[in-house]
Amino acid sequence: MLRTHNCGELRIANVGEKVTLSGWVQTLRDKGGLVWIDLRDRYGITQLLFQEGISDATLIETAKSVGREFVLQATGEIIERSSKSDKIPTGDIEIKVTELKVLNKALTPPFKIENETDGGDDLRMKYRYLDLRREVVREKLQLRHRMMQQTRSFLDAQDFIETETPVLIKSTPEGARDFIVPSRINSGEFYALPQSPQTFKQLLMVSGFDRYFQIVKCFRDEDLRADRQPEFTQIDCEMSFVEQEDILSTFEGLMKHLFKNVKGVEAPDFKRMPYSEAMKLYGSDKPDTRFEMTFKELNTVAQNKGFNVFDSAELVAGIVVPAAASYTRKQLDEITNWVKRPQIGAKGLVYVKCNEDGSFKSSVDKFYTQEDLAAWAALSGASKGDLILVLSGDIAATRKALGELRLEMGERLGLRNKNTFSALWVLDFPLLEWDEESERFHAMHHPFTSPKTEDIPLLESNPGAVRANAYDMVINGVEVGGGSIRIHDRETQAMMFKHLGFSDEEAKAQFGFLMEAFEFGAPPHGGIAFGFDRICALFGGSDSIRDYIAFPKNNSGRDVMIDSPSPIANEQLDELGIKLNLD
Ligand code: AMO
Repeated sequence: MLRTHNCGELRIANVGEKVTLSGWVQTLRDKGGLVWIDLRDRYGITQLLFQEGISDATLIETAKSVGREFVLQATGEIIERSSKSDKIPTGDIEIKVTELKVLNKALTPPFKIENETDGGDDLRMKYRYLDLRREVVREKLQLRHRMMQQTRSFLDAQDFIETETPVLIKSTPEGARDFIVPSRINSGEFYALPQSPQTFKQLLMVSGFDRYFQIVKCFRDEDLRADRQPEFTQIDCEMSFVEQEDILSTFEGLMKHLFKNVKGVEAPDFKRMPYSEAMKLYGSDKPDTRFEMTFKELNTVAQNKGFNVFDSAELVAGIVVPAAASYTRKQLDEITNWVKRPQIGAKGLVYVKCNEDGSFKSSVDKFYTQEDLAAWAALSGASKGDLILVLSGDIAATRKALGELRLEMGERLGLRNKNTFSALWVLDFPLLEWDEESERFHAMHHPFTSPKTEDIPLLESNPGAVRANAYDMVINGVEVGGGSIRIHDRETQAMMFKHLGFSDEEAKAQFGFLMEAFEFGAPPHGGIAFGFDRICALFGGSDSIRDYIAFPKNNSGRDVMIDSPSPIANEQLDELGIKLNLD
């Protein structure tokens, strides 16, 4: 080893020992006769001391010649510092260096390798390997490492078999576009990278593996956001001979295990909510339940009083913002403009101030008496001092906009604390959702999800009303995982493909292998997959999953460090039989 100790472990009790450390130069202070170098590695920082008259002259010369991020090996005796530092754990000691070797030189880094850096996002991503030297960045990846180990140990103890599935596969229908890989030896044919190992894990159940998991890369060519990367990692799981309840309890167990062993938090039992209730109360299938402020439907008290906007609306609904009746005109105008932005899409906002003296002041006083407004307050549970914010319109759009407003008000009131966790299961998702563009139904989760037995008759008459045995785990408004109980017989699967608009030939060409497998004794099975990067970001208190990925892509799907994607040579294209048409 090129060291006897690391840069974070020496203490006052080690004084007098001769040690060798290796690491990077964090800082160098040259006071003429005295030179100090802070030597850094993953474990910490230790101060090196070079003193004229005591240290050898060439040694001091060498020390003075090094720059930031040079790689050094230093040997010497541990001494007590005359001026101690309580900022670092090694702050009581320093090394009186007697031998110094420059293991490698370094260019001046393009940004400061410190927790507070001067490097912008693009620069740090271009030199991500330098960014990763920073403690705050590395700690996030270490959190990810701990999460991974704890996941493995929990699932291993529960008899799950970790199994790798192939990366060069064919299209799996998870709703996004595939990344495609041309095959040289099968000219004109293509692999697709998996959007998830869905079909393989189901085949492993047919194989009798009983319990499978994999911490696995998935690839989806979709628009990127803070919580989406084109390649991301799932904790992918499947179990045989289970019902929904078994999946929920097993994986609530996994999440509680992670909370306990990584965050030191005893999580209470997760709430449960049907999809329909989540939409009605929060306007979202991934509600942030750290705070209340649920929707109150006001049609019965707000309609038929002459206010045309409400009278013509399918839904009139509001939220009660606690202790916000004192908001000024300016504040209310600002919130109104906020909901009118195209991203939110509301046409306007009605407010009712529930004044401390028991009176009401609203933006629609012309149409409503004090008694009318008292009825709004009573129905919505508003107290003196509260503010009711009301939106109206068609049901879906109003719920969506009010949901956004609720989150925004929660944010403004400081109700979305990153150190508070509120977890729930959203259950009974619709099986199908109507797609305006293709004018047909799509599987809301994926085509292998089973419908609720009692809803199967509705498949013909009212497909949109059929509920699925599908569930999502939601924490703090983030969809951290989702899964379903699967179809496990050929007939139901064929019926499902038919309802999704697949012809028999298309179904056979894409999923013939699965349908065939179902005929060889497929056990009832179900599973779930977690967005591993999202769980890490949530545990780390960040909105962006990029911070928890060692080498992430930027918002245009580029890796700016290795400069990818990039063109390939004509010979390579020829070999693949590909002609580009870039007009
Ligand atoms: P689903 O498509 O819901 O289910 O994905 C499971 C979880 O993966 C995470 N996730 C993502 N994370 C980062 N970037 C992305 N682009 C991205 N897309 C999804 C989410 C999501 O909840 N095969 C099914 C699972 C099953 O049925 O067992 C599936 O992949 O946290």
